[in-house]
Amino acid sequence: MSLGWSANDHKSAAVKRARNDSGNKVSVVLGAQWGDEGKGKVVDLLATESAVVCRCQGGNNAGHTVVVDEKEYDFHLLPSGIINTKCTSFIGEKQSLAVQCITVTLEDSIGVLTVYGRLFPKILKINKFSEFIGTTKKGIGPTYACKASRTGLRICDLMADFSEFSTRVKNLVLQYQSMYPALKVDVESELKKLKDYAERIRPLVRDGVYFMYDAIHGLPKKILVEGANAALLDIDFGTYPFVTSSNCTVGGVCTGLGIPPANIGDVYGVSKAYTTRVGIGAFPTEQLNAVGELLQTRGHEVGVTTGRKRRCGWLDLVILKYAHMINGFTAIALTKLDILDVLDEIKVGVAYKINGKRVPYFPANMEVLQKVEVEYETFSGWKTDTSAARKWSDLPPKAQNYIRFVENRIGVPIKWVGVGKSRECMIQMF
Ligand code: GDP
Ligand code: IMO
Ligand code: MG
Repeated sequence: MSLGWSANDHKSAAVKRARNDSGNKVSVVLGAQWGDEGKGKVVDLLATESAVVCRCQGGNNAGHTVVVDEKEYDFHLLPSGIINTKCTSFIGEKQSLAVQCITVTLEDSIGVLTVYGRLFPKILKINKFSEFIGTTKKGIGPTYACKASRTGLRICDLMADFSEFSTRVKNLVLQYQSMYPALKVDVESELKKLKDYAERIRPLVRDGVYFMYDAIHGLPKKILVEGANAALLDIDFGTYPFVTSSNCTVGGVCTGLGIPPANIGDVYGVSKAYTTRVGIGAFPTEQLNAVGELLQTRGHEVGVTTGRKRRCGWLDLVILKYAHMINGFTAIALTKLDILDVLDEIKVGVAYKINGKRVPYFPANMEVLQKVEVEYETFSGWKTDTSAARKWSDLPPKAQNYIRFVENRIGVPIKWVGVGKSRECMIQMF
C-alpha cells in the first residue's frame, strides 16, 4: 500500500523548507581591540539602512559616542542606532538586571533599570576587586556573577508576579548583607521604585527569542547587532582577569539574542588606527611618552563612561589578528586615522618576542603578556590633514600605504576609514 509519500520525500521537503526558511542574515559590529574603537559611529552609519538594531551583551559599561549634524550623543545601554527613528532598537540580555528582552523606543528610553547599581551602590564603592580590575563600577561583574550563581533577577521576573519578585530581591539583599555586614538598603523604597519602573517598561518588553525569530523570518530586512566592549575584554578570550564579564566576541551575539549561528552574516571588526585601553592590564604597544600623550590629547581619549584618560599606544596587529581568529571578520572599519596626521613617524606592532624569540601566539597568561617585547614596522608620517578626505584617492599616498599594510597583515579587507567624528567623515572603500 502506498501512503502517497515516502520518508525520503518528507526529508527532502523538510530540507527544502529549512533552506527556504533560513531567513535574514544579521550583520554584526564588534570591537577588535580594548574598546572605544568607534563602534557607535559604525553602527550609526549602518543603521541608516537597517530595520532593527540590537545590543546583545554587556550593559551600561559601554560608552558609544555618535556625532550627527554636529550634535554629540553618548549611549551607554541603548543601541546607537536609536538616532535613526526608522529603526527598531532592541536590547537583548539587558545585563544591568541579567535580563532577557526589552525593546525600546526613543521616547520611552528611561535609562532602563540599573537595579544592581540601585540596590548596591555602596558595594560598588567598597568592592576592592572592582578597584583591582579597574572596572566601570556599573555593577556588570556582580550582575553576571549573580546570573552564573542563579540568583540573578531578570526582566521576565520583574514582569511576572511582583510579590515573588520582591521576595527574591529581599533574599538577594540578605545574601549581600551577609557578605557586607555594613550594607544598608532601604528595600521597601527600592521595591516601590522598581514597581514603578516595571509598569513604565512593561509596554516595551518582548520575548527576545520570538522577537528575533520574527525579525529574521519576516520580510527581507537588514538587522544589525551592535557589540559592546571588545575582543580583548571578552571574559573568555580577552586579557583575563582584566576583562569585562560578558562575551564581546561573535559568540555573544548568538547567546545574547538567541539566534542561530547560521543567521550571522557580515561581521565587521572596528579598530582605531592606533590602540587605546581604559583601566588596568597588559598593553604591549602602550607608549608612556610624548607619542602616547599626543594620541591621548589629539584623539580626546577620555572614557565616556568613567571619564578616565585612556592609555594610548601604537596599533597592535597581533591583537587584531587574534580578534580575527575568534570573530572571523568579513571587513574592518579603521577609525581615527586623522589623529595620526601630525606624526613624523608611525609604528605598527607586528609581532611579540620573549628573550629575542618570536611568540607564535597571543599569550593567554597575563604575566607572560606583560613581558613581551614588541617588534615594530616603522612608517614615515604623511603630515597632511586627512579630515576632509571623503574618498580613497583624497588620502595621501603614505596614508594609503599604511592602510594597505594593515589590511594585508590582518588579512581582512578594510571597508571604511574614519577621518573625523561625524557621520560623513567615513571613507567607504567598497
Ligand atoms: P565605541 O565605544 O567603540 O563606540 O567608541 P567611543 O564612542 O567610546 O570612542 C570613539 C571616539 O572616537 C568617539 O568620541 C567618536 O566620536 C570618535 N571617533 C570615531 N571615529 C572617529 C574618527 O574616525 N576620527 C576621529 N577624530 N574621531 C572619531
Ligand atoms: P565600549 O563599548 C573601554 C573595561 C573597563 C575595565 C574592564 C572591566 O565603550 O567599547 P567592567 O565595568 O566592564 O566590569 O570593566 O573593561 N571596559 C571598557 N573599556 N570601552 C568599553 O566599552 C568598556 N567596557 C568595559 O575599563 O578595564
Ligand atoms: Mg566606548
